[in-house]
Amino acid sequence: MAKIKSAYFCQSCGYESAKWLGKCPSCNQWNTFVEEVIEKPSAANAAVWKTTVGGTQRVNKPSKLEEIQSVTEDRLLTGDAELDRVLGGGLVPGSVTLIGGEPGIGKSTLMLQLALNIKQKRVLYVSGEESEQQIKMRAERITKTPQANCFILTETSTQNIFKQLEQLEPEILIVDSIQTLHSAHIESTPGSVSQVRECTAELLRFAKETATPVFLIGHITKDGAIAGPKILEHMVDTVLQFEGDRHHIYRILRSIKNRFGAAAELGIYAMHGNGLREVSNPSEVLLSQRDEELSGITIGATIEGARPMLIETQALVSISAYGTPQRSATGFDTKRMNMLLAVLEKRCGFRLSAKDVFLNIAGGIKVEDPAIDLSIIAAIISSHEDISVSSKICFAAEVGLSGEIRAVNRIEQRILEAEKLGFEKIFISSYNLKGINKDKFKIELITVAKIEEVFSALFG
Ligand code: TYD
Ligand code: MG
Repeated sequence: MAKIKSAYFCQSCGYESAKWLGKCPSCNQWNTFVEEVIEKPSAANAAVWKTTVGGTQRVNKPSKLEEIQSVTEDRLLTGDAELDRVLGGGLVPGSVTLIGGEPGIGKSTLMLQLALNIKQKRVLYVSGEESEQQIKMRAERITKTPQANCFILTETSTQNIFKQLEQLEPEILIVDSIQTLHSAHIESTPGSVSQVRECTAELLRFAKETATPVFLIGHITKDGAIAGPKILEHMVDTVLQFEGDRHHIYRILRSIKNRFGAAAELGIYAMHGNGLREVSNPSEVLLSQRDEELSGITIGATIEGARPMLIETQALVSISAYGTPQRSATGFDTKRMNMLLAVLEKRCGFRLSAKDVFLNIAGGIKVEDPAIDLSIIAAIISSHEDISVSSKICFAAEVGLSGEIRAVNRIEQRILEAEKLGFEKIFISSYNLKGINKDKFKIELITVAKIEEVFSALFG
């Protein structure tokens, strides 16, 4: 009998060690090593997916770059405008895309919707999580007229999946989820580091050799990283993150890595009773329709991916009932909020250290664009002073540590979006004026260089 080979794997980062370790030398996590039985596939059973072409083993030779023929990528449009944009303009043949997200966020719904709606393509949806009946029920909720070439397979063994793939020859493959698959070449349990790595490698080989686009759904760990080894993200071509607050209807599909397009691209969906709907005009839905002006609410012009969006920022400043004031932010980095509060305290003399401060970005959206700073500062002061800011004013500037108002990128796009939505004034940094034609805009540009100027312009 062949000797069973095993190794210890860090379940957090995938580091491999011959013996058990308390602390992972790679990611410094404690107690994450688990023994997994691995068996290196011998030459005899390595034929997982055909690695030979025309019966002979293919040997790659070095070629001169200038002699390599460039091919115009034929992108396949999925029929979902948001997904196409996030992918950088459609699906690339042979690409492997990993979609991560919290449980219940809508990963399976998004992929099933793609399978049901893409026209005239044979799609195979492999599920290791749900039964055929469950998928059928979900499909009936999503669409009444599914496309005729959508196939469902409930299977978790990669060898069996490959057998079906050879027969069916699908044009798109969807796997829900990579953590439920197992390969017979590896003995450890599904979802373990070595299984996930092996199954991904097998699917990757299939994708590259048949030029079939493959989608993999991946679970995430409790701190938001895609479960399984970090190398999973290195192996695939594109990593998308599906996120949002489960209590809100909006979902954001973000590209974290993309070999075929810009990363940090973003798609917005709304989850309805009959599946996910694309949101093509995010600003209009993210701004709440309010009649009266309330203190603590301002609007920031942000850019997520390539798209300008106007987003409502809300702040609540109140006297702290306890010795330690509470600080909490939803959709915004708490450290950055603390920095902005310190700037206000030090540069403008606002006594915020004894106050509770709560921040919220409306719609359950997470914003990382620093151009939202000025809007947040204005919301905090508006709430602190209990004076409302007109809903016809918006903001787009970064705030520096010494209270200076800094320029932000793509200011023209932000101004145009604000103008389009009927705003009357936009606060921008004086340093942003260079190179833009001020007369082109109908909206009034208010330029500020220091934080004090913002307050005198707003509250007099
Ligand atoms: P699901 O796609 O199963 O999430 P994941 O695969 O990421 O775990 O999404 C399930 C959630 O979406 C569930 O809480 C119900 C909700 N949902 C709707 O609101 N409308 C729908 O049409 C569907 C199919 C699901
Ligand atoms: Mg699911």
